[in-house]
Amino acid sequence: MRHFIDTQDFTKAELMSLLELTGLLKAADRQRALPPLLAGASLGMIFEEPSTRTRISFEVAMTKLGGHALYLKPGEIHLGVRESLKDTARVISRMVDAIEARTLKHATVTELARYATVPVINGLTDYNHPTQVLCDVFTMLEHRPKDKALEDLHVTFVGDATNVCSSLMMICTRMGMNFTHCAPKRYQAPEAWQAIARANCAVSGGTFTVSEDPPAAVAQADFVYTDLWWWVGQEAEIPDRTAAFMPRYQINEALLAHAPAHARFMHCLPASRGVEVTDAVMDGPRAIIYDQSENRLHAEKAILVAFIGPHLTPRSPELSQWHAGRIADFLKHHPLTETPSPAVQEKV
Ligand code: CP
Repeated sequence: MRHFIDTQDFTKAELMSLLELTGLLKAADRQRALPPLLAGASLGMIFEEPSTRTRISFEVAMTKLGGHALYLKPGEIHLGVRESLKDTARVISRMVDAIEARTLKHATVTELARYATVPVINGLTDYNHPTQVLCDVFTMLEHRPKDKALEDLHVTFVGDATNVCSSLMMICTRMGMNFTHCAPKRYQAPEAWQAIARANCAVSGGTFTVSEDPPAAVAQADFVYTDLWWWVGQEAEIPDRTAAFMPRYQINEALLAHAPAHARFMHCLPASRGVEVTDAVMDGPRAIIYDQSENRLHAEKAILVAFIGPHLTPRSPELSQWHAGRIADFLKHHPLTETPSPAVQEKV
C-alpha cells in the first residue's frame, strides 16, 4: 500500500507523472468534461487544525470525480483519545477508500499510515506539506519562462523554515531544480533537512543554497516564495521573530526590484499581509497566489486518482444489474416492506 506522506518517497519520474496527470485533469475540468474516475469512492478527511484550501480542494475534488468526502474533526471522532490511533486507522479503512489527514504531529500521520489499509494522504503536519508543493511545482511549470525547462528554474524561499519550506526544498531538489533558502541563521532549515536536499541534488543535478542576503538570494529567482513568520502556538516568539525578519526579509517591491523582471511571487496562504509580504506584492502583477490556490484542486484530483483509482474494483453494469434484481426480489418478501396489517393501518 503506497501513501502520499512525503515527496521523498517518490522518484522524479513518479512526481512528474503526478504533475502531468494534474494537467490532464485540469484541462478536462476546465471543459466540464471530467470523467467520474472515483465514482462511489469515499475519502475520510481528518483535520486537527483549521484549513481553507486543503479541506475545500479535497472535498470538491472527490465530488467532481464522482466520489464523496467526509470531514472528520477531533472531538467529533475518536483520534488517539478513547481509542488508539491503530484502531481508528483500521476502522476508518473499512469504510472509506482513502484517508487525508492534517495532523499536529508528523508522527500521527505516519502512525495512521502504518495501520491503515487504504492510502493515507498527508494534508500538512509540523514537518511537511507535500500536497501543497506538488501544486506549487505544477504552478511553476504553468508560469515558467517559455525558454526554461523545469530543471532550469530557480526558486528562492525567503523566510522561516516552515513545513512548506521543508517540502518545497525537498521537491525542488528532487526534481533537479535550483533552490535557495534565505533566512537569518537562527531560522534557516535544520541541518538534517539540508542534508536531504543536498543528497537529492547529488542525484538530480539540482542545486541547494542557503543565504542570509535577500537581495542576492532573489537575483536569479524565477519564483520568490514566502510563508508565515509565526504560527499558532508561537505567539510568545512574535517580538523576536519580527526583530529578526523585519524589514530585511519582508517580500516587498523594493526587494523584488532585485529579482529578474519575469520573477513571480508565490505564497501557500494564508498570508499575514503587511508582515511577511506587503499588500502591493500580494495584489501586484507578479503574484500568482490565486492560481496556486486553484491548482490545489487540480493537484488533489491527481493524487486522489493515482492513489485511490488502482484499488477500486472496475464497475460492471451487468453485475450491478444482477445485484439490483437480487435485492429487489428479497425486498418483495421482507417483513418491513410488506403491507401493514389492517390493525396497524387503523392506528396510522
Ligand atoms: N495552504 C494551505 O494548506 O492552506 P489551508 O491551511 O487553508 O489548507
